[in-house]
Amino acid sequence: MDYPLVRMRRLRKNANIRDIVRETKLNKEDLIYPIYFKEGLKKGQKEEISTMPGQYRYSIEDGVAYAKELEAKGLKSIILFGIPKEETKDEIGSPAFDDEGIVQNAIRALKKETDLIVIADVCLCEYTSHGHCGLIRTYDKGDINDDTDDGIKILNDASLKYLVKTAVSQAKAGADVIAPSDMMDGRVQAIRQALDEEGFFDVMIISYSAKYASSFYAPFREAACSTPGLGNRKSYQMDPANSREAVRECELDLIEGADMLMVKPALPYLDIIKTIKEEFSLPLVSYNVSGEYSMIMAAIEKGYLTEESIMESLLSIKRAGSDLIISYFTPYLLDNL
Ligand code: PBG
Repeated sequence: MDYPLVRMRRLRKNANIRDIVRETKLNKEDLIYPIYFKEGLKKGQKEEISTMPGQYRYSIEDGVAYAKELEAKGLKSIILFGIPKEETKDEIGSPAFDDEGIVQNAIRALKKETDLIVIADVCLCEYTSHGHCGLIRTYDKGDINDDTDDGIKILNDASLKYLVKTAVSQAKAGADVIAPSDMMDGRVQAIRQALDEEGFFDVMIISYSAKYASSFYAPFREAACSTPGLGNRKSYQMDPANSREAVRECELDLIEGADMLMVKPALPYLDIIKTIKEEFSLPLVSYNVSGEYSMIMAAIEKGYLTEESIMESLLSIKRAGSDLIISYFTPYLLDNL
């Protein structure tokens, strides 16, 4: 059968009909809100992030109050990033695993004041003086041991110890979920083992499994003050050209004990989301990153796009196969879903 017996437009005739045949729906519980806590800010001192209109760095009091507001609108989970005092940053990212660190204190306050699922991002880049996600070694020009292209090596195994310390310290503070975003090999296994040894059997791990070396993180680095001082992240984050490699990364994280997988960024990687969803039965999270937010916000501000582009973008991430979406658009979506 074909036209004129078949008419696809019958199923699009009016809003009620479109409502009943809609294949994909975004729900409030699909959303995870990323929030930045900055050490040293006083109550009422929230700082707007210049590259991300409408997003702020919060003091603990203000961030918790905002999280409560979002919870009242239907939010279920939140992911935390911390910005320590500049002068406390060092080579190994010590403020990341300080039991009285900014994220640890924010976790405790959120657990006390809300019922939100608290996810702690585990990484060193916001806490190291050099801005890399692990420990580094630099080479002088002409060093025969230098096999890098930029004279800087991010040390895998030496970094694991500090990532593990960070995860354990966050779990002690009450984090429900640990989300390692550093892309060191073996970190999921190392973190799972340490959590279990400390008795945190029930603390989940959402691994940033397929995390690409993306230019779309630029606004985040401004937000979190974590732009690397030298070199780039291409020797540990994935090459945007690869998709089979994403499957291998996810396989390893699954074997190492991840409870959920993640693809990051989302919009430029919808094909990866679809592939991972088809290959694995773990819940899949996508990170609609800072650059995806800022790009749409800038276009809306300029009048090139309308707000409808927000819902459409988020829906396409869901349609590609994501179960959960980390997005800065969460407050907007909670108001508009
Ligand atoms: C830390 C981390 C980054 C993001 C989340 N965790 C930045 C990076 O890897 O450079 C990016 C989030 C965003 O862009 O919204 N490693």
